[in-house]
Amino acid sequence: MKEHIIKDIALADAGKQRIEWARRHMPVLQKIRERFEKERPLEGINVVACLHVTVETANLITALRAGGANIALAASNPLSTQDDVAAALASEGIPTFAIKGESDQEYYECLEEAIKIKPHVTLDDGADTIATLHSEHKDLLSGVIGGCEETTTGVIRLRAMAADGALAYPVVAVNDADTKMMFDNRYGTGQSTIHGILNATNVLFAGKTVVVVGYGWCGRGTALRAKGLGANLVVVEVNPRKALEAVMDGYRVMPMLDAARIGDLFITVTGDMSVIRTEHFEVMRDQAIVANSGHFNVELDLPGLSSIAVGISEMKEDVMEYTLTNGNRIYILAEGRLVNLASAFGHPPEVMDMSFANQALAVRYIVEHGDKLDNQVYPVPSEIDEEVASLKLDAMGITIEKLTAEQDEYLHSWTMGT
Ligand code: NAI
Repeated sequence: MKEHIIKDIALADAGKQRIEWARRHMPVLQKIRERFEKERPLEGINVVACLHVTVETANLITALRAGGANIALAASNPLSTQDDVAAALASEGIPTFAIKGESDQEYYECLEEAIKIKPHVTLDDGADTIATLHSEHKDLLSGVIGGCEETTTGVIRLRAMAADGALAYPVVAVNDADTKMMFDNRYGTGQSTIHGILNATNVLFAGKTVVVVGYGWCGRGTALRAKGLGANLVVVEVNPRKALEAVMDGYRVMPMLDAARIGDLFITVTGDMSVIRTEHFEVMRDQAIVANSGHFNVELDLPGLSSIAVGISEMKEDVMEYTLTNGNRIYILAEGRLVNLASAFGHPPEVMDMSFANQALAVRYIVEHGDKLDNQVYPVPSEIDEEVASLKLDAMGITIEKLTAEQDEYLHSWTMGT
């Protein structure tokens, strides 16, 4: 295995400073790190982490290392790497393979390099390590105890593999923990998606018609924050329950084609493919802005948009201009890749504190219990989820109410009525 593939080791000091800043906002992960330092539960465990290379991830990696793990890190998206963070980790002797703006081919070469560590545990954000091991390195599968998956799209891929009987080792769906999804996907994606759009465009949200496509956890957070900035919200959904929730949250709900005609700014967060297609681009207003914050860049049909464009040019950094035959210009941000990571810093450390606390504890759980698990996708054990919530409240200095013995009995009985 190479030592690292990074942009420039000279960026390490800048990266270390920013990692330290994030560390100070991740108290739960720090508590777990201190525990790991004492107990060394991951001694000798080889881990491949295919995660967004950010300051928060750096803190997860060093916490796992404090627990005794040997880790190789590759990016989980070609545009999400923070090069100073990659340099800082490489300078600490952590094999890191990630350069912002790497090509798709380089992306997979980096992952291949990380896999050379021969993992006992895999950490994914989008299931690329698992997919690569299952297709290219079947010989390594028997050595893997288990894996963790960070995001909705990855969990969907893994459930499909498990249903086909194709999953060769157990995986914990870290994404689905309450202390991950309700905070990271909602408040993290909500805030950082707006941050990415503002960095790329600096447009005023107040008074704009903003169309959020997908009203899951990420969509709820994104709509909430856009509304807070004074935008008029339109939600596009395929699920009747989620659509109804959006209506009662005060948003207009309509099909994509109707929304395409009236939106000024479009944000996709569905985890689905081709949710905005040529028929939608064709009816958009002049200078409509389109961004994606879902995991893969397939939410926007960019090949379709290219095929109907008479001109394509880079308007400015992170903004591509597509001119259509009717003269209208459509602006695509960050090549349709997740805008919160490509054009901003990704999620704030306070939410990643909980997501990565779940990751760290889930890795320990896999190491301790993986041999007893089937080759399925498992939820994060509820004790871990509850512990992360309690530690977070504690770190925030918030004390909550406790059930009295009488209340506890009442809530667990069926004999007590009026
Ligand atoms: P979710 O499953 O809670 O929500 C997705 C919603 O999109 C669902 O309500 C679904 O009905 C809807 N949907 C699917 N196809 C649609 C279509 N054609 N038109 C309209 N709505 C459609 O998923 P969640 O957690 O909100 O994640 C969404 C995506 O964001 C996933 O790809 C996930 O991996 C990614 N993600 C990105 C993050 C980031 O940092 N940018 C962070 C967390 C998740």
